Amino acid sequence: MLKEKYADRIQAILAKYPPDRKRSAVMSLLYIAQEEYGWVNQQGIDEVAEICDLDPTQVNSIAGFYTMYSEKPKGKYWLHVCVDLACALSGADEFYENLKAYLEADVDGNSKDGLFTIEHAMCLGACDRAPMMQCNFHFHENLDLEKAKALIEQWRANEAKK
Ligand code: FES
Repeated sequence: MLKEKYADRIQAILAKYPPDRKRSAVMSLLYIAQEEYGWVNQQGIDEVAEICDLDPTQVNSIAGFYTMYSEKPKGKYWLHVCVDLACALSGADEFYENLKAYLEADVDGNSKDGLFTIEHAMCLGACDRAPMMQCNFHFHENLDLEKAKALIEQWRANEAKK
């Protein structure tokens, strides 16, 4: 249960808002649910709804609207490659396809080893540093395929050590 496992974090988030405005904490709490379950599943939605005194349908509509919440299981390393205009002009489409092929990702973007999920993203605000991708909300910029492969192998090595 999120309430028990993340009690301190949840309390810190709720403390930012008046007691009668707990719904304002939904998005921050959805991040915790996603971190715990690997995606925003029904259990996470139900728990966030309970914490915020909301109906699960309301929480579900928020989770479904924003692309930073995944509605399906994904790899531990969630890669968003920006393919919006500025990045596309710097070869982002080819970069994305080559990286996806390197990961041997399926149609849903999940890598063969299950560790990665690769997806398109629209502008992430690093247009002058394209191609770029976000991994679990951390930016990696001025990439090419070789740099991205090095990152992938570093992350794989880190996981192998665990
Ligand atoms: S267009 Fe890719 S970061 Fe802006």
